[in-house]
Amino acid sequence: MVILGIVGSPRKNGRTNRLVDAALDGAQSRGTAINKIYLVDYEIQQFKGTGGSAEAYKSCPEALSKLCEDADAIVLGAPVYWGDINGLTKDFMDTVRISTSSGKPALGVAIAGGSGKGLLSGVQSIYHFFFHKQMRAIDPTPVSRFNLDKAVEQLKESGGKLVDLATKAEPFSGTAWNDRWPDVVAYYTSIPYFDCGPLDEFIMLARQLITISEGKDVTQAKTELETALTLIAEGKRDDAARHAVTSYQLLFYSP
Ligand SMILES: Cc1cc2nc3c(=O)[nH]c(=O)nc-3n(C[C@H](O)[C@H](O)[C@H](O)COP(=O)(O)O)c2cc1C
Repeated sequence: MVILGIVGSPRKNGRTNRLVDAALDGAQSRGTAINKIYLVDYEIQQFKGTGGSAEAYKSCPEALSKLCEDADAIVLGAPVYWGDINGLTKDFMDTVRISTSSGKPALGVAIAGGSGKGLLSGVQSIYHFFFHKQMRAIDPTPVSRFNLDKAVEQLKESGGKLVDLATKAEPFSGTAWNDRWPDVVAYYTSIPYFDCGPLDEFIMLARQLITISEGKDVTQAKTELETALTLIAEGKRDDAARHAVTSYQLLFYSP
């Protein structure tokens, strides 16, 4: 069995690399073979053809598609650029051929290492890819500078879970690709963050900052966050947004 770690950042020693390493460490601690690759080492062409996915596959190096097909599970990490995964990772997703994808266990992590904004929309993109490839995804991991150390610890556990899943992995039920969607869609109803938006993102970031911050502004930030949560419960999401952003801004610090 082999778990393939894929680093989508062009910065080989950046945060994405650290996070993918954490998941691979967790997998390796179960005695499983691991392999880590950097997308920047491959000549992935941006798909500019006029055909469909079969033509797009030709834009991904065969060796890279083969690694993904042969892997028993995949860890995919991407940096967040302007609220989404970076273009290199998207080009990989657009063009990689994974004929064995149905039911293949997968774990994704997105790091929004600046303001933190985009940590949820980034990880959503990765899980939309897993969903459309009918992969058996677990533990979406949205990361900012504020929960980085905690995420590293969580990813070690997720890496171990991925191995457990890979030992008994099987395609979703159904004899053909299109027969499997009922089972796939049912599986993904329990995947966190699929239905989150910008307000959820600011609440998540405010919570992260409250956890790691000290000083007088923490009390005020907590009050603002509580107000936001109360307003959400009352269905007043627009008012809630202002308080959630204030909570975040009270404690935000620059990179
Ligand atoms: C073009 C560009 C856009 C970025 N946009 C965001 C962003 O929307 N939100 C954020 O929190 N960080 C943003 N960042 C910061 C990166 O997410 C951060 O540097 C991250 O650590 C990159 O991952 P790496 O360390 O693995 O390279 C951006 C960086 C670049 C280069």
